[in-house]
Amino acid sequence: MTTLAVQQGTLFPDGQLADRLGLFPSLRFMGSKFRLLSWISQITSELRFGTVLDAFSGSGCVAYLFKSLGKAVTANDAMNFSATIARAIIENREAFITQQELDLLLEYDPRHLRFIQQTFDGIFFTVEDLRFLDQVSWQLQKLGDPYKQALAVSALVRSSIKRQPRGVFTVAGDPDRYKDGRRDLRLSLREHFIEHVEAYNAAVFDNGQANFAVRADVFDLPATGFDLVYLDPPYVPRADDNCYIKRYHFLEGLSLYWKDTEILADSRVKKLKKRFTPFSYRRTAVDAFDRLFRKFRDSTLLLSYSSNGFPDLDVLIEVMRRYKDRVEVHSKDHRYHFGTHDAATRNEVTEHLIVGTS
Ligand SMILES: C[S@@+](CC[C@H](N)C(=O)[O-])C[C@H]1O[C@@H](n2cnc3c(N)ncnc32)[C@H](O)[C@@H]1O
Repeated sequence: MTTLAVQQGTLFPDGQLADRLGLFPSLRFMGSKFRLLSWISQITSELRFGTVLDAFSGSGCVAYLFKSLGKAVTANDAMNFSATIARAIIENREAFITQQELDLLLEYDPRHLRFIQQTFDGIFFTVEDLRFLDQVSWQLQKLGDPYKQALAVSALVRSSIKRQPRGVFTVAGDPDRYKDGRRDLRLSLREHFIEHVEAYNAAVFDNGQANFAVRADVFDLPATGFDLVYLDPPYVPRADDNCYIKRYHFLEGLSLYWKDTEILADSRVKKLKKRFTPFSYRRTAVDAFDRLFRKFRDSTLLLSYSSNGFPDLDVLIEVMRRYKDRVEVHSKDHRYHFGTHDAATRNEVTEHLIVGTS
């Protein structure tokens, strides 16, 4: 496994923290701050806080950093699969999937439902892969313990994102068409799953605090009770496929076995209906930031922001100053990688952390 400790050398003076973060099962998730964790840790080491809300947790890596630092963490995201990952490795302190339970998950039960195979045949993955997802989704109900179920779903999600070319679900195509020999595309979903159950098991730990995973719109969360609130909302997209649900609808559906979801009738890849978020539109974004900062004005605010985002940095600082006496900006060059090999687009951006204190 590639660990953060290896990737980032000696950036963490505390080797134990690096070892812990190296156990985080990273996802190729749009806007993930995984490669910025040591920097975020450095900046937050100057702040005094015991309780923290990661209000847009996404892949869960920043919440995992805070958990590793011994904080009492609440991880929230509007997407169910993000909240499920947080339940598996942020809220969960001790449950893991035993070998016997893994065997149970891999068992064949002829009563299993066939929704995934029937819906996505010819769109994503191979028939065997789709059948496997149907089977495990059926079997995991037999685990009983919601944390174990969350671990199994997280492993299914990570398997699917790794096996999917480019890690996004915007265009149809099974992995056999991409014959570049990459291991992640060569392995079946079953082989991936066995590996990722182990990876998620290894990521579970107890930091001595009560931690929580929540799936909610940020504006429905309680406004108080957090010393620090970390904010990493989506940006106004430059292209439509920047939308989280458009990219990851399959993972969202999978995490719910498509229960209570709405598939768009005219979608070739069976996308789910988008949920409105005011951060994704030019005409609503500035007001959304204002409401966000106002809502959490009693907490120290920590906002992640990239130079290619909207609104401009100056505007965000001005808005945060309405609610916070001191606003400080830390900046770092960062390179985002999307895709692999020749399909890659590399975006060089400056990453900012904007800290608002009273
Ligand atoms: C930039 S990503 C967060 C990335 C995360 N910090 C990481 O490192 O993986 C933004 C996240 O905000 C979530 N989101 C968008 N609108 C939201 C809302 N109104 N309330 C809660 N979460 C929202 C998206 O589902 C997405 O996971």
